[in-house]
Amino acid sequence: MQHSCFPVTPVTQSRLARVDFDNLGFGSIFCDHMFSMIYENGSWRNPEILPYQALALEPGVAMLHYGQTVFDGYKAFRGEDGQARIFRPGRNAQRLYDSCQRLCIPIMPAEELRDIMIQATRQLIELDHAWMPAQWGHSLYVRPLVIATEATLEVRAASSYRFIIMTSPVGGYFANLKKGVSLRVEDRFTRAASIGGLGAAKTAANYAASLLPGAQSRAQGFDQVLWLDSNEHRFVEEVGAMNILFKIAGKVVTPPLGGSILPGVVRDSALTLLDDWGIAVEQRPIAIDEVIAAFASGELEEVFGAGTAAVICPVASIGYRDEVFTVANTPPGELTLRLYDELTGIQYGARADTHAWNVCLPLPEMQD
Ligand SMILES: Cc1ncc(COP(=O)(O)O)c(C=O)c1O
Repeated sequence: MQHSCFPVTPVTQSRLARVDFDNLGFGSIFCDHMFSMIYENGSWRNPEILPYQALALEPGVAMLHYGQTVFDGYKAFRGEDGQARIFRPGRNAQRLYDSCQRLCIPIMPAEELRDIMIQATRQLIELDHAWMPAQWGHSLYVRPLVIATEATLEVRAASSYRFIIMTSPVGGYFANLKKGVSLRVEDRFTRAASIGGLGAAKTAANYAASLLPGAQSRAQGFDQVLWLDSNEHRFVEEVGAMNILFKIAGKVVTPPLGGSILPGVVRDSALTLLDDWGIAVEQRPIAIDEVIAAFASGELEEVFGAGTAAVICPVASIGYRDEVFTVANTPPGELTLRLYDELTGIQYGARADTHAWNVCLPLPEMQD
């Protein structure tokens, strides 16, 4: 079903002039408009575009107490040809749908959700096109969010919800691309249960669980946490906001999607490109001991993360227990760079989009 345009209440005064596009950071600036929809009395209704604004919520709403909420994240890029390209929003819509199922949120059918998300994103970009950064590496981050809004302290799925899509101009990660990030293997806390938990859903609880280990890692001088499985603290799972891939003795190895890690859209895109290029990939459990042994034998060629925020991000070192292992190939490695160049090339329209990943729309000319 193709959704026609959603009704718009425009802002009376844009906040755009106050934005410093040279210091965007990540996710602290929000565009003028947001999409909104509500669920009440058993159905989703009132799709509309409103000025970005505070939500009025009673302190008793279920989401605040029991965490019944899901979100997702994807990006749109301004190409030199004047087109905006939204990267694989259909995949994110499917993941939001799956996250809703796990969190017992009565979302609309997956196809309808996808159409609504794509149409809403297009309309938000059209309205706030001047917020879309022009610089290579910068982009417009799109953040859909579903929250339980019923005020009840009973522990059960709520009867009312709000679905919001907000957008935010974000900066790039070029510094990380050049020097790579440092990871600390977390062998005490877990991000998500290995079996039957919430790990595959993009939901607040997984991120709340990551905050303390994340802060401890930073206090020790590491950039991010490398998570292990929750049962034995033996198998590598993923990084803070990225899936992880290793190149060991010529082969790419990455943990399988077993329900405990987030099924990343960039991970899937990278695996598709590797397959196109005839590079062998093994999706299998990989023990941290195997990674350490590969460091020791010199077979560990490259380590990189895959995720929307950084696209492809080289890993420069891994701290495990009391030792720090440095990746021999000073980042970025050859394959890391090849994947980064191909993916960003597709996203900005500089390389052929052979898998039809982008949803494109023309943008009005930029004003100086
Ligand atoms: C925990 C976690 N793993 C992996 C990813 C990578 O997923 P994607 O490639 O869809 O951004 C993210 C980011 O969304 C994440 O938060």
